Amino acid sequence: MESTFSLRPAVEDDLSKVIEIENQVHVAPWTLDHFKSELEKPYSQVLVMTDDDTDSIVAGYIVFWVMGEEAHILNVAVGLPHRSKGMARQMIQRAVSTALGKGCKKVILEVRKSNMAAIQLYQSANFTIVHVRKGAYSNGEDAYEMALFLDDEQAPVRF
Ligand SMILES: CC(C)(COP(=O)(O)OP(=O)(O)OC[C@H]1O[C@@H](n2cnc3c(N)ncnc32)[C@H](O)[C@@H]1OP(=O)(O)O)[C@@H](O)C(=O)NCCC(=O)NCCS
Repeated sequence: MESTFSLRPAVEDDLSKVIEIENQVHVAPWTLDHFKSELEKPYSQVLVMTDDDTDSIVAGYIVFWVMGEEAHILNVAVGLPHRSKGMARQMIQRAVSTALGKGCKKVILEVRKSNMAAIQLYQSANFTIVHVRKGAYSNGEDAYEMALFLDDEQAPVRF
């Protein structure tokens, strides 16, 4: 039977597996030190999706900040063998429900204009493009700023 996976807070021992995924999937990957510094920030949550059997396979991870009325999703990734199983959606859902629980009014993030998979993921969770930042990335690519307004009755959270 295929393993089931659940989210839990990351610890430093998880980071070598996180970095393995990070280096495979991102154009400008974060460093180990970057992830370590996120573990130390009181407003940052770093969650890993691990298998329920051994808790040793890291399938994906999310990093988000909860700061006052805003939550920011900074990083989300799923390893190639674990794609298209709803894991990213589950991680976004966790970030949104945490933000709601802490009284945030919106969740925001930035995504490369070319990253169709991520844009569709966020749109399927009711995020909308609120701003385009021209040439935001080092390769000159534009960034879409996307937001989910948690107090907007016209845009209920839907997963
Ligand atoms: C984007 C990413 C996190 C999606 O992970 P995933 O676990 O495979 O996504 P899910 O299975 O939860 O998919 C949820 C929704 O996202 C969208 N989606 C996911 N992968 C997609 C793809 N390759 N093409 C188009 N839409 C896609 C779909 O709307 C999907 O819903 P559906 O299955 O009902 O059609 C993954 O492709 C990834 O790690 N990419 C590299 C890192 C990255 O770009 N992170 C985002 C940076 S802002």
